[in-house]
Order: sequence, then structure tokens, then C-alpha cells
Amino acid sequence: MLRRVLLAASASSRLRQLITTAPATRAIVDSYVAGETGEDAVRVSRELRAAGLLVTLDYLGEDTTDEAQATAVTEEYVQLLGKLSAEGLTHGGAAEVSVKPTAVGLFLGPGIAAANIARICAAAAEAGTTVTLDAEEYPAIEPTLQIAAKLRAEHPDLGCVVQACLRRAEADCRALAAYGVRVRLCKGAYSEPDSVAFAARRDVDLSYGRGLRALMNGPGYPMLATHDPRLIEITGSLARLTGRAPDSFEYQMLYGIRPAEQRRLANTGARMRVYVPYGGDWYAYLVRRLAERPGNLAFFLRSLRSKG
Ligand code: FDA
Repeated sequence: MLRRVLLAASASSRLRQLITTAPATRAIVDSYVAGETGEDAVRVSRELRAAGLLVTLDYLGEDTTDEAQATAVTEEYVQLLGKLSAEGLTHGGAAEVSVKPTAVGLFLGPGIAAANIARICAAAAEAGTTVTLDAEEYPAIEPTLQIAAKLRAEHPDLGCVVQACLRRAEADCRALAAYGVRVRLCKGAYSEPDSVAFAARRDVDLSYGRGLRALMNGPGYPMLATHDPRLIEITGSLARLTGRAPDSFEYQMLYGIRPAEQRRLANTGARMRVYVPYGGDWYAYLVRRLAERPGNLAFFLRSLRSKG
């Protein structure tokens, strides 16, 4: 309930003003975000790679409102891929990128996002790595999956994301579990109406379990994005049951969340990828992380009160 209220309130400009100027904000932002620049992203990628972790980088920003901005975001990704490649970080897909379709113009006009994503995919291919399209709010889901399906003809390793909170999740996992297709399964970070999404955490977890089974039993490449210890354990058991080789699927977690567990999994020989956001436009990302973690939220609200 609290999560829904916070996510809904995040659109308020007063709340944005409060959060971006609160004293506790900087420390929390720094724990979840690599820094503001492409150089920060490369530095953190280098550190994570040295620890045996794989990386996916997200240039923060979403809901781009004009074409020039969509082009600038695309250009940032192309530049970033060049920098990562120059450092030898992209080899074999070790460091890849995650792209929010709304940041590259999903709702700006026919073909704009698809053309920008195709450009990022071409830069990634040249760097020897991959692209994953993040899943955003419900109206973006179908158009994103359609772009992914279309671009996969030329870029078969273009990944996409299924949010277990959505009622369509299991069907999407089954439909996407085709040979070699990269699918990230997460719980879902957005507040969606009951008509399309499960509200109860238990129902979301059960849906995650169904999607997980569909992906692990299929011929694709599952990317299990969760910090939930129970789901991580179930993933390991399913891998053993289905005889999946450790390099035929991966775990994924967010930068700054359960870092010891990230290293533990990597040390078992599993593929473990860290999602690393960077850039100045961190507000919406931070609110989603606060909404997931009551402890962070309580700390944060205390600091707002002391400010007032
Ligand atoms: P859950 O929220 O139940 O948390 C399980 C445990 O993890 C908690 O008990 C706590 O220990 C820890 N934890 C979780 N969140 C924390 C936080 N903010 N701070 C500290 N500890 C925390 N969503 C989406 O809609 N579209 C997308 O494309 C993506 N992409 C994506 C990529 C990757 C790599 C990850 C890991 C996640 C996403 N997500 C996402 C976000 C995802 O949908 C979900 O909101 C978060 O991962 C939290 O859900 P968990 O599965 O971790 O479970």
C-alpha cells in the first residue's frame, strides 16, 4: 500500500523538490548509483569485473519528451559502449547496456525508439556485447516487446524483460522462451492497476515462480533479476533439476543491493550480473528503490522531518 502511495506521489513536483534537496538523499543516491558520468560508469564496471561480476549499465532517464533528447540519450549509449570496449570490458558480453525505451523516444512518434535502439544495438555488436530493453509502465510493455521482436531479426541477442507482477507474465515467458532468446525476469517496480497486475506480494512471487519454470525449462537464456533469497534458491534447484549448465543462465541484482550475495554467487561459478545506473537524472530510480525498502524509507522520512 505504502509502495503504491509513494510511487503515485513520485509524480508530484513538491515531493521531487523535497527529495532532491533532503540531506539524506546524497548518501542514498551514492549507494545505488555509480556516479554522474560515463567515466564513473566505466570505473565502477572495471571494479565489478575485477571481482568476477558481469555488468549491465543504465544511463538514467525516462519519459523523454522531445526527439533531440532521445537522440542525445542514444548518443550517450553509443559513446559509453565505445569507452567500455576501449577498456576491454565488453568482451564476450561481460559489460552490456540496459535501455529504457521511453528514454529513446518510445512515445514520440512511429519508429523513433526502434531506430535509436537499432543504433545502440549496432554499437553494442561492434563492441562485442549485447543490449537489454528494460520493462517500464504498462502502456510501454507491448510496444517494447514488438520493437524487440522486430529488431531480433538483425540482433538475435537483444534482450527484453518480463515483470512477474503482470498477469500476462507467465504467457510472455512461454512465448519468449525460444532458442537463445535473452529474457530478464523481475518482480516489477511500477504501480499498476489490479486489472493488469497482481497486488499481493505472494501472488507476484507465485507468478515469478511460474515464469522462472517456463524460462528454465525452455531453450532460451534466462536472466533472473531478484534479490529475494527464496527465489534465488529455487533458481539454483531448477538449474540442477533441468541440467542447465552454469553458463546457460544468469543471476542479476542492482548495484548496491546485497553486494556480498552478489560475490558469493559469482564465487560459486554462477554468472552474476550487476545492473549499474549512472547519470544525473536519478530521481525516478531512487523513488522506486525507496518504495521497495521500508527501512530506507523510514530513514529518509526522518531526515525530511529534521529538515522541516
Ligand atoms: P523484494 O522486493 O521482495 O526484495 C527481496 C529482498 O531484497 C529484500 O528483502 C531485501 O533484502 C532486498 N532488497 C530489495 N530491494 C531493496 C532495496 N531497494 N534496497 C535494499 N535492499 C533491497 N523492474 C522493472 O519494472 N523493470 C525492469 O526492467 C527492471 N530491471 C531490473 C534489473 C535488475 C538486474 C534487477 C535486480 C531488478 C530490476 N527491476 C526492474 C526491479 C525489480 O522489478 C524489483 O522492483 C526489485 O528487484 C525488487 O524486487 P526483488 O525481486 O529484489 O524482491
